Order: sequence, then C-alpha cells, then structure tokens
Amino acid sequence: MSELHNQKAAALAAIAAASDLTALEETRLAALGKKGWVSLALKTLGQMSPEERAAAAPAIQAARAEIADALDAKKAALEAAELAARLASETVDLTLPTPAQPKGSVHPVSQVMDELAEIFADLGFAVATGPEIEDDWHNFTALNMDETHPARAMHDTFYFSDKTADGKDVLLRTHTSPVQIRSMLDQGAPIRIIAPGRVYRSDSDATHTPMFHQVEGLVIDRDIHLGHLKWTLETFFKAFFEREDITLRLRPSYFPFTEPSVEVDVGYSTEGGRRVVGGHGDAPGHAWMELGGSGMVNARVLEFAGLDPKEWQGFAFGLGIDRIAMLKYGMNDLRAFFDGDPRWLAHYGFSPFDQPTLSAGVGARA
Ligand code: DAH
Repeated sequence: MSELHNQKAAALAAIAAASDLTALEETRLAALGKKGWVSLALKTLGQMSPEERAAAAPAIQAARAEIADALDAKKAALEAAELAARLASETVDLTLPTPAQPKGSVHPVSQVMDELAEIFADLGFAVATGPEIEDDWHNFTALNMDETHPARAMHDTFYFSDKTADGKDVLLRTHTSPVQIRSMLDQGAPIRIIAPGRVYRSDSDATHTPMFHQVEGLVIDRDIHLGHLKWTLETFFKAFFEREDITLRLRPSYFPFTEPSVEVDVGYSTEGGRRVVGGHGDAPGHAWMELGGSGMVNARVLEFAGLDPKEWQGFAFGLGIDRIAMLKYGMNDLRAFFDGDPRWLAHYGFSPFDQPTLSAGVGARA
C-alpha cells in the first residue's frame, strides 16, 4: 500500500514538473502506458484471490483516476500556455504601413466566374444560385430522371443519411442543372440566367476531383430555337477566349433534360504542347474538344417546373468552369486547383484589382 502511495506521489510530482507536452507524455507512458506501473499493478489483480482483489483494487483504481485527472489538467494548462505564447509572438501590428508587395490573389476559378458573369450580363443574363445540398427531386426527378433512370447511377452521387421532412433523399448536387428548376419555379417565364457554382461527384483522379465547378445556362421565352443556342455559346466563347476565330460544332447527343440534345465541341490546335482554342476542328493540325452539353429544354422538364411547353420553349447548357479556366490560362493539373498551395496561387492567381470588364478585357492580367 505505501509503495503504491509513494509511486503515485512521484507520478503526480513528475506531472506537475513537466515543462512541455513531450515531457508530459513521458510521464503518462511511465504510469498509464501499456508497460507503465499502474497498468502492471492492475494486471497483478488477476492473480489475486477475490478477497485480496477486493482489498487492493480500489486503491489502484483510485490512483489511476487521480493520475489521469492530473494529466488532463496539466495538458490543458500546457496547451493554453503554448497558444498564449504563439499569440504573443505572432501579433499583427495594425499601425504598420501596408507592405510594398501586396499579398493574396484571386483564385482562377473565382476570376473565371466573374468573367462569365460579366460576359453574360452583357447578353442580358442574370446570375442565379441554388443550394449545394439538394434533394433528389430537384437534382434528378424534375430533370426527367425518375428513380429508375440509369443516368442517376452515372452521377456517382454523395447521399446524406437524412431525408427531407417530406421524405425526399438529400444529396450534394451532382450538377448545376437543378438551378434551372428552382429558377423556373421562382420566376416563371421568360427567363435568362446563368448559374455558376460547385458540384460534387464521388470521383477522383488527375482529371476528376470530388468537388468541381460548372456553369448552367437557361433561356426560356417564346419561339426559342437551336440557332439561338449556337449564337449565344459562340458569342460567349469569342468574348471569353478573346479571339474571333472560335468555331463550334454541335454534335447530337443525349441528356434526359433536353430534346434534342447536343454536345458542344470547339476547334483547337496544339502549340508547344499546349492546347490553344481557335480554328475549325477539321482543318489541318486541328481537332475538336468537348466543352459541355446543351440542348432544347425537354417539355417534361418545363412541365415539372410549372411552365406550359405549348407556350414556352428554351435552351439550356452546362459547361465545366475548371476546364475552360485551364484552357484559357494554361494549367494542366486539375488537382492543383484545390491544393491551396500559395506558390501555385501566386503564379496563377489574379490581382484583386484586376476586375474583368468588357471594356478593359475579361482576361487582362496584372
Ligand atoms: N448537367 C449535365 C452534366 O452535369 C450537363 C448539361 C448537359 C447541362 C446538357 C445542361 C444541358 O443544361 O442542357 O453532365
């Protein structure tokens, strides 16, 4: 008994004397670690008779609890002291003049979103938003993908375990298309919006990240046809890439929410290992690259969104923002977009003063 008492006193003294977290961890291991003396003492209980154990156990358990409490208290005190020391050494003197070299930059994705808003605002589009945590009705059903639609499986959706109050599945939106539905339900027709934002899919490699960015476009009015779609996208890409020789090819495709559906390809060539958009994809030294999907809004989607398809038609499109940012500004690894490495940001980021405007150029670099 008195040996236990002495050991406990020695342990408490060592804890009190520990000057940092490493020293404290050593005292913890010596007492409570797998080979620590408290653990060994607890093991001896197994070899005792029930009477002996009943007499010895409470003292050992009590010593163990007392040491554990002392360790917790000392750990909290050391951490608080460490934080206080860091705060004292890392103070910011707000009375100092601003640095000659301004720090911080605008991420290329933010810059490209501003460029998109600027170009489409000039064409009469407003910017719409929707929630990133969506329900499956807006993300799938109202876009003409019912529960059994195979396209649902292709989206690699992140689901939440909760459901909405009315029993719908809750998920991270897999595309910006649900903003079409929300905008039509909110505003009715006519409508002209773009919806840039984050989308999520359970997919990860050099060209896919679990979170990425899309921009959705939606135009609903009377007598809208595919010609309007092609002109709008062509006008946008000419302004965005700041060159007149942009050639688009609309290739027949399938999306549940458009009919007819087309994939949008742009002609490009390769210069010094880098893809440069421009020119006709069938011209010598050129090829086509897919930039996104689009089509005429499916009549069923209009009905889900409360519009009469006999009165209203429209087109929609969806583009990958990260993709067009990489093309315009010459990055080759998508994953670096989301690493937050300050060296990458210093190289590819934009000055906050470099606001994209049509008059000064939507791609001007500081
Ligand atoms: N939502 C589609 C996707 O993420 C892209 C898309 C295709 C959007 C066609 C559209 C569209 O608005 O008309 O794969």
